Amino acid sequence: MISLACPLCYGDLRNVMSSLICARCDARFPIADGVPNLTLASTLTADQARVARDWDAMADQYHAIIRGIGNRADAIDRPLLEIATGAVVEVGCGDGRFLARLRAHGVRDALGVDISSAMASLAARNGHRVVVAPAESLPLADRSIDCCLSAYYSLRYADLDRAMAEFGRVLRPGGRFGFTLLGARATRFSAAIVALPLLFHQETTWTAADTIVGRARGIVLPNDVRDVDELRKLCLVNALTTDRITGFARAPYLSGILDRFDRGALPVPSNLIAALAYDIVVIGHRSVL
Ligand SMILES: C[S@@+](CC[C@H](N)C(=O)[O-])C[C@H]1O[C@@H](n2cnc3c(N)ncnc32)[C@H](O)[C@@H]1O
Ligand SMILES: [Zn+2]
Repeated sequence: MISLACPLCYGDLRNVMSSLICARCDARFPIADGVPNLTLASTLTADQARVARDWDAMADQYHAIIRGIGNRADAIDRPLLEIATGAVVEVGCGDGRFLARLRAHGVRDALGVDISSAMASLAARNGHRVVVAPAESLPLADRSIDCCLSAYYSLRYADLDRAMAEFGRVLRPGGRFGFTLLGARATRFSAAIVALPLLFHQETTWTAADTIVGRARGIVLPNDVRDVDELRKLCLVNALTTDRITGFARAPYLSGILDRFDRGALPVPSNLIAALAYDIVVIGHRSVL
């Protein structure tokens, strides 16, 4: 079973009366409702604290959102499931949707990590082993994990440089990694299409216009992919070799219909991924040296 380590010094953790205590530095981490919280509030950046708050607030409605996805995630989950063996960590596990798929796929040793305690509690209630911790500071020893995954865009909200450094640190040499992000251009385009009908309602005209010309805030986020070579380089500086980047196109409205036949996400040729792909899946391995 995957062992947790102190996020401050990577010492062993002992379970003492509803807490985990570091055998090396004495740091104490609470366990609430069976879920250890390995986040030190004092070390969180303002961005991390905001992300945790936003997802905490979302937890009550999350079930409805996930139900709405239907089989939309199948195509992007598949490449991640294909590499999942041994000790598997999912970073940004949400309510455990993907952890359930890992279990159905035969993975017996999985750990979910999420920055939001409310989301982690949902996953725990759904029967998964989870901890509260940020992607940027995983409570795991160096080279202790066989496969590090992040499904359905969780890394979109993380500090990607720090998260990749953590993937590189906790993976054993030769261990596999996989994560999904969104393409920046396709995200902007999809938002513009969805905004079109809103142009004709007085209350939404200006927001819709801003979205269509690409000026609306919060539509494209900093981690949305503009250049796949940059992404490859970011992996490589963290000893993560990219084996495959897959892109899928999605068109608002049309993909919803095609999803019913499991055809909503169409593969995009690799040279066009940055320009056309909406869903982007990166698969690779921890370099051996
Ligand atoms: C869209 S949900 C994805 C859930 C799950 N991976 C799935 O495939 O269904 C995104 C999750 O990522 C978590 N998250 C966002 N930023 C994170 C970070 N920096 N570290 C850990 N988890 C994070 C959120 O709290 C949320 O639960
Ligand atoms: Zn410690």
